[in-house]
Amino acid sequence: MLDRSVFAARRQMYLDALGPDAVAIVYSLPERLRNGDSHYQFRQHSDVVYLTGFAEPDTTVVLRPGADSEKVVMFVRPRDPELETWNGRRAGLDGAKERYGADAAYPAAELDQRLMDLVANCEELHYALGLDPDMDLRVAGVLARLRKTEKRGKRPPRAVVDPRAALHELRLRKSPDELAILRKAAAISSEAHIAAMRAGRPGTFEYELEATVNYTFRRHGGIGPGYNTIVGAGENATILHYVENRCALADGDLVLIDAGCEYDHYTADITRTWPTSGRFTAPQREVYDLVLDVQQAAVASVRPGLTLDDIHQQCVRRLTEGMIDLGLLEGPVDARVEDLAYKKFYMHGTSHWLGMDVHDVGAYTRGGKARPLEPGMVITVEPGLYIATDAPGAPDRLRGIGVRIEDDVLVTVDGHENLTAACPKTVADLEAICRA
Ligand code: GLY
Ligand code: MN
Ligand code: MN
Repeated sequence: MLDRSVFAARRQMYLDALGPDAVAIVYSLPERLRNGDSHYQFRQHSDVVYLTGFAEPDTTVVLRPGADSEKVVMFVRPRDPELETWNGRRAGLDGAKERYGADAAYPAAELDQRLMDLVANCEELHYALGLDPDMDLRVAGVLARLRKTEKRGKRPPRAVVDPRAALHELRLRKSPDELAILRKAAAISSEAHIAAMRAGRPGTFEYELEATVNYTFRRHGGIGPGYNTIVGAGENATILHYVENRCALADGDLVLIDAGCEYDHYTADITRTWPTSGRFTAPQREVYDLVLDVQQAAVASVRPGLTLDDIHQQCVRRLTEGMIDLGLLEGPVDARVEDLAYKKFYMHGTSHWLGMDVHDVGAYTRGGKARPLEPGMVITVEPGLYIATDAPGAPDRLRGIGVRIEDDVLVTVDGHENLTAACPKTVADLEAICRA
């Protein structure tokens, strides 16, 4: 866990960014039932973690830069010896103040009665509308009540502002502390992919590889996977987010694993594709060599000033050329890029922001245009090619082949650093590991 001073510094940056006339609310999403009376494991909302490190459910943080005192107010579950015996420890109100930086702390149940005074008369309310209908109703109720009290000196905010405007700009640029955690998540994830490459043989089930991967995450103190682990053998690799993971690997299959460890609330996001039996077939090589070539060129190009759109367009062009060479499409290249025919075999984007959330926060555009990359941003680079068994017009030799190669790349002052470079991806390295 990061030092408390890191969270204090983040809160101060956010208070400064908000300015004295704004108030912000960040909050936990509700715990969800999985089945019967069993819940999904709770994961704190990343905005709450970012600002406080506080991981308990039922939490709301109100930030008030213009207040004389009580600038950071937390609503948390109070201590309760009986419930703590059943369900685990709580920091309580004192813990929120002493350990998590609240200037004032109140029981979660008092949110409704206190929120009105906390947001009254601010100009902007920074609040993520549309995430949790119950919270939206509570906030709307507060605004409605404030509209009626204007004559008595308490008026509602003039605008409700999405957290993308300020908070998510902070989260988008990673500090050295955050990069240290992301490097750890990347290192554990690389080890997990290598463990799966070693474990996979004809006859191994996809779920066994999922277990190997997730076990490696936990063994190193990761929270678990940052998103559901994808293990697709053979034609399952052509399904982008295949998570059933229930088939056996057949001799000659490629296996696609897309898995990243979440460590201290930051996640890696790596995809590797490798041959079950330790050697790519000739058609698999045709596809793999193309995707690897495109992926390496895209990673090499990452530098400040470039946009994610530039990276994507470069991958689309090179993949489309490759598709024509492979006989998947008919040229010319310009026409196939223009008419989007490549989307039959490459239907997703090439990059996204990466951080506390796998598809991390941060605006992708500025003034309607793709924004330039800046040092401290972390992105994925993940081109692929997916040839479904029933893809119309595809040469038979290529049917059922799916390849994606995904690395996590930090934008640096003079270029980039591949955070997942330790995870093998050349044909020679993969064949050596898979045969061992
Ligand atoms: N693992 C999800 C993605 O690559 O975007
Ligand atoms: Mn990704
Ligand atoms: Mn991925």
